[in-house]
Amino acid sequence: MDDDPAGVPPAISPCLTRREAGLGAALVAGLAPAAAQAAQATPGATLRLVLRVNGKAVDTMVDPRTSLLDLLREQLHLTGAKKGCDHGQCGACTVHLDGRRVASCLTLAAKAQDRRVLTIEGLAPPGGALHPMQQAFIDHDALQCGYCTPGQVMAAVSCVREGHVTDAAQIREYMSGNICRCGAYTGIVAAIQDAATRMREG
Ligand code: FES
Ligand code: FES
Repeated sequence: MDDDPAGVPPAISPCLTRREAGLGAALVAGLAPAAAQAAQATPGATLRLVLRVNGKAVDTMVDPRTSLLDLLREQLHLTGAKKGCDHGQCGACTVHLDGRRVASCLTLAAKAQDRRVLTIEGLAPPGGALHPMQQAFIDHDALQCGYCTPGQVMAAVSCVREGHVTDAAQIREYMSGNICRCGAYTGIVAAIQDAATRMREG
């Protein structure tokens, strides 16, 4: 899958202005320039956003205050990432941004400027086979209603890649940001342990 950054420079609408007061430098410190501008945007301003989502180039206009989750769900119609709490508390919205897991409800879409986003829809390799983590969740009955599952799977893939799968206790610790109201945790831990082996072999 080609998921290189698009490399197209951001273009900000001329109507984007900075607030004179309010958000201070500390609030926007650490954000990419486009994200910092987004945080300071006037309501109604538009931002041209260029990124890659699941390997495909996306070039779209957004309200600078749009979250990455709303961009994915409402504009790109990728509804795998779920809006559980919208406050960074449940992990249902977990996606990968440049290969690292993020809560997309807490991430400004502008922060994805010129970056790569991977959602559950793009996780499986081309050809029809599931990703080993998806298959392991099925094999270990690691879900009931399934609402948390896309976020669990994306977080679990990161958990393995980060090397946080030494034992069940470590998996539980590094998956603690992903809540399952159905309580499928036993299956989730087993699935991650199984998938970790499959991913190492694959
Ligand atoms: S919806 Fe993002 S953490 Fe709950
Ligand atoms: S399977 Fe229902 S919330 Fe996790």
